[in-house]
Amino acid sequence: MPVEIEGVTLHLAHPDELPVRWVGQEEPLRQLLAAWLMVDPRDTPMNPRLVGKPGVGKTTLAYAAGQRLGREVYIMQATVDTRPEDLLITPVIEGAGKLRYVASPLVTAMIRGGVVILDEGNRMSEKSWASLAPLLDSRRYAESIVAGIKIKANPDFRFVATLNDDASTFDLPEYIHSRLQPQILIDFPERDEEYQILQENLPFGDEKVLEYVTQFLQQAHSADERYTVRDGINIARFAMKLRSELSYLDDGSALETAILETLGEEAIRYVPRLRK
Ligand SMILES: Nc1ncnc2c1ncn2[C@@H]1O[C@H](COP(=O)(O)OP(=O)(O)OP(=O)(O)O)[C@@H](O)[C@H]1O
Ligand SMILES: [Mg+2]
Repeated sequence: MPVEIEGVTLHLAHPDELPVRWVGQEEPLRQLLAAWLMVDPRDTPMNPRLVGKPGVGKTTLAYAAGQRLGREVYIMQATVDTRPEDLLITPVIEGAGKLRYVASPLVTAMIRGGVVILDEGNRMSEKSWASLAPLLDSRRYAESIVAGIKIKANPDFRFVATLNDDASTFDLPEYIHSRLQPQILIDFPERDEEYQILQENLPFGDEKVLEYVTQFLQQAHSADERYTVRDGINIARFAMKLRSELSYLDDGSALETAILETLGEEAIRYVPRLRK
């Protein structure tokens, strides 16, 4: 559905649907919702950043929070190639000498009063972040150089960024960091929660397999390994497939193979002993 802003017709993006439900860890979810609250008409919502190891659930948590607000949720994936105009409005050639202006998921959320998740935000450069500076302070607008318009955020618009702590990221400059407050940390889940997360993501999962993978993950967490529930989901999924295809494998050897082929040899030391 196109909208018109300052005489320019914009084509909007579609909201995202993630099929998964957030399980356990209410604390970071409530903190995120708190950051978005307005406690007074003179107050403004904050623009939090979610941090934590790859695969701990940052994107899932951000999505769940947006859903809990009952708003449309838009996921904007940041990459090294994300240019300032990709974040806002891109021109697309429509026919002879005609341009069509396409709004990014972020701008669509600004217009429709939705939630935007700027996912893996520190994969994009400072130059792209700079174009968001006015949006992320009390001004709450963005300027598209390409379309020549200024877009004001709907009062219901909410922003969250997820940041990764791995090697292929940029260090964000201070003026951006100071706008992405508060910082909400997602840590490894407790044992029971981890089991429930596996169950939520693999509802057809065999109880024994999920139990085994939970034990494996918990042992790896206590040794401060980087393995997360995403790895656990992959291990359980692959083990079940192996069992189904190679019927001579027992649960134990299917799981060991799955661990080995998902995470490599270093992971084998956390393999739990199977209780008969
Ligand atoms: N608390 C949770 N409830 C339900 N599912 C979860 C939870 N935590 C993690 N998951 C599942 O774990 C997987 C990884 O989560 P997600 O993609 O949100 O992690 P991430 O931190 O965004 O990872 P990355 O840093 O690679 O972007 C997903 O399949 C997600 O469904
Ligand atoms: Mg993510």
